[in-house]
Amino acid sequence: MNGEIHMDAAAVGRPLAEPAKRGSSAGFPWVPVLVFLALWLGGSWAVVGAWIEPWIVGGWLTLAAIFALTALPVVSLVRGVQGQSYPSAFTRLFVLRPFWYAMLFLPVLAAATLLGGAIGLPFGSAGPAGRWALAGASALLVLGGLAGYLGSRRLVVRHLDVQMARLPPAFDGLRLVQISDLHVGPHTPRQFLTRVAQAVEDARPDLIAITGDQVDDFARDVEIFRHAFAHLQAPLGVFAVAGNHDVYAGWSAVRRGLESAGFQVLVNESVAVERRGQQLFVVGTGDPAGLSALAQRGRGASAESTAAPDVDRTLFRIPPSAPVLALAHNPMLWPSLARRGVDLTLSGHTHYGQLAIPKLGWSMASPFLRLAMGAHRDGDSMLYINPGTNYWGIPFRLGTPPEVTVLTLRCGTNGEVGIRQTRALPDQACDRTNGA
Ligand SMILES: [Fe+2]
Repeated sequence: MNGEIHMDAAAVGRPLAEPAKRGSSAGFPWVPVLVFLALWLGGSWAVVGAWIEPWIVGGWLTLAAIFALTALPVVSLVRGVQGQSYPSAFTRLFVLRPFWYAMLFLPVLAAATLLGGAIGLPFGSAGPAGRWALAGASALLVLGGLAGYLGSRRLVVRHLDVQMARLPPAFDGLRLVQISDLHVGPHTPRQFLTRVAQAVEDARPDLIAITGDQVDDFARDVEIFRHAFAHLQAPLGVFAVAGNHDVYAGWSAVRRGLESAGFQVLVNESVAVERRGQQLFVVGTGDPAGLSALAQRGRGASAESTAAPDVDRTLFRIPPSAPVLALAHNPMLWPSLARRGVDLTLSGHTHYGQLAIPKLGWSMASPFLRLAMGAHRDGDSMLYINPGTNYWGIPFRLGTPPEVTVLTLRCGTNGEVGIRQTRALPDQACDRTNGA
């Protein structure tokens, strides 16, 4: 996962290409998808149905109709992925969201029913035991889902002190504010975006970093992002990089939208910011999701147009001893950046799996990713992974609420280097906005 990302420099610098056309439905692998749905959803309904069928009006016919209803949204999902339709807020909230809940919850219910039935079997009561297990699991899922929903609507402002070995004195006390993974769409509550923008402004940032996944797979949603955040300002600039979902949406169009909002978009690029005559370099990488887009487009595409990462190009213009702040959506780029002497990298992407136990340093992303959450250090190079300032998929976050990160840079005295949390507070401005 942490392999070095390097792009052919010859492929860089060509004119921007049009966003990749998504595939046609003719080429979509319908057969494996339908087989998977039949096994995943159909199998789950079959198990649950075997226990509750006598209590359902219409019996198996009704259950088959419910199965078809839970599976049908896949058509809307595929049409959206294929670029053949743009799902409205209604579709996303009341068609696609129930589908994802069904995909997650039904197998759990089926497993609980089977387990209950198996436990009851030696006592001759497999039926009642399975139904009790089903009822218990349903109650737990409803309560867990509710807690996760409330967790996804919280907003925390986390304050971190970052001691850097070679921070110029002019930047001591500099406040960076990072937001990430907003995944904005028409279903995103405007009030929540207002709370995020207010929290960023309240932090009085010197520099704002937006580290990718601005939109949720549809380029036109960048308008919503622009409307919510275009007014944000900071003396040293507002910078944005590409996330994998921005790439899936069509990076060229997303980039245009971000630039029209006044954000400085960095893809394999660097800029120097100045304070009292001293310089700090801010760089932005591309995202690994752009690599497949680059491969598909062949000649005529560039790393910038597809947002594919090119770490060498990103750092090309920077003097060896200069301090560097890197924005990289995917933390898997950090080892490459650290090896090249980047002082501080800000990432997002992992969402901490939207389920975490921070005290144990564990998240749902931890079994899959070495760089899954929190702060990391390698020599004088540091990484902070923002857990996301909203949610992806279903509105569920437990143990890891949406976060606005405020990082205060400090000159490392006596060679001290590290990231230390100073405060993590519920955003007061948010509560005012809600009238709470
Ligand atoms: Fe994301």
